[in-house]
Amino acid sequence: MSKLSIRDLEINDRRVFMRVDFNVPLERGRVMDDTRIRETLPTIEYALRHGARLILASHLGRPKGKPDPAMSLKPVAERLRMLLDRELARGENVGFCPDCVGVEAEEMAAKLEKGQSLLLENLRFHAEEEANDATFSKQLAGLADYYVDDAFGAAHRAHASTVGITGFVKKSVAGLLMQRELEYLTKALQNPDTPFIAIIGGAKVSDKIGVIRNLLDKIDSLIIGGAMAYTFLKAQGEPVGRSRVEEDKVDLARKLIAEAASHQVKLMLPIDHVVAEKMENNVPTRFVDSGHIPQNMMALDIGPRTIELFSEEISRAATIVWNGPMGVFELPAFAKGTVKIAEAVAENAGATSIVGGGDSVAAVRAAGVIDKITHVSTGGGASLEFLEGKKLPGVEALTDKR
Ligand code: 3PG
Repeated sequence: MSKLSIRDLEINDRRVFMRVDFNVPLERGRVMDDTRIRETLPTIEYALRHGARLILASHLGRPKGKPDPAMSLKPVAERLRMLLDRELARGENVGFCPDCVGVEAEEMAAKLEKGQSLLLENLRFHAEEEANDATFSKQLAGLADYYVDDAFGAAHRAHASTVGITGFVKKSVAGLLMQRELEYLTKALQNPDTPFIAIIGGAKVSDKIGVIRNLLDKIDSLIIGGAMAYTFLKAQGEPVGRSRVEEDKVDLARKLIAEAASHQVKLMLPIDHVVAEKMENNVPTRFVDSGHIPQNMMALDIGPRTIELFSEEISRAATIVWNGPMGVFELPAFAKGTVKIAEAVAENAGATSIVGGGDSVAAVRAAGVIDKITHVSTGGGASLEFLEGKKLPGVEALTDKR
């Protein structure tokens, strides 16, 4: 990696401001999924073991620049305390400051002892965070000597805590999670083992055009599933019944099919489908082959022949990048295709597999195979933008090695 990492810093007895992505789902004040917190633990533990005075900061949700108790990071501090206690027997040291800037934050940061940590309240309770405001950035920077960015999930946002702050600290470095995310994604784009296969799903072609275009000169096969597959099937002139189609993207899908062919990429679309009259659980469903989707029905998942076809292709790959579900994964009746693809990816133990995006990550978890995936990205939007070939502002702002 061309950027400095936390391992390049002498952090003993220094105040370190660490931007993390603790944007986790909360329900009635409880953390429902602590993956993002757990994934950051190695960096937090590294900092604490090396004697840093650690100030942690994150956003949570989109509170529109005003305090909103439903989006407080307080429950996250409690979960972090519990996790650190289990790992390091030092959870009692995690403090919580009810604001991220101001006198109280300054006093609490100044009082931190070596090896102690403090989580600041939601950065987005201040509109200045998303505005990348210079004064606010300077206030955040004033809390510490060094800046560590471990928030890969927020690296596509040019905000005060991801970009502005780097202009006001001595050094800005990547945390261990940030480093790991960048290493896996960079290797996939720059030097992948082949055959390289991309599995792209989800509702909209428009969300994935950038990724498909950027990957076409790198991959050998492209599997397309999810609702977006029906825009492609329609572009090929197939009847898709009432399946979801982006009418204004049919031409674009036709172009992408031609581009895949000119790059000699094997483009694979579903060959059979689970269809129903309504997108609801407990409605009658049946399997039909492509070309036979009835006019009054919509396709909501890939069928068994497609699962077999895609799984076989996946079993031959050396690098697999997967983003987006194969069907309406949130409804159990149409989740099977996505779960089976998760199993197929996990079964290819020799391949480097990289999974990103909320539903695909949920699918590998639901299939109980998350530990068999080489790298599960903590960034939804960020990993997508990276795969589109875009530069992430939060990464660009870090200090170069030389
Ligand atoms: C995410 O969940 O993708 C990140 O935390 C970024 O959140 P945002 O889309 O609200 O900026």
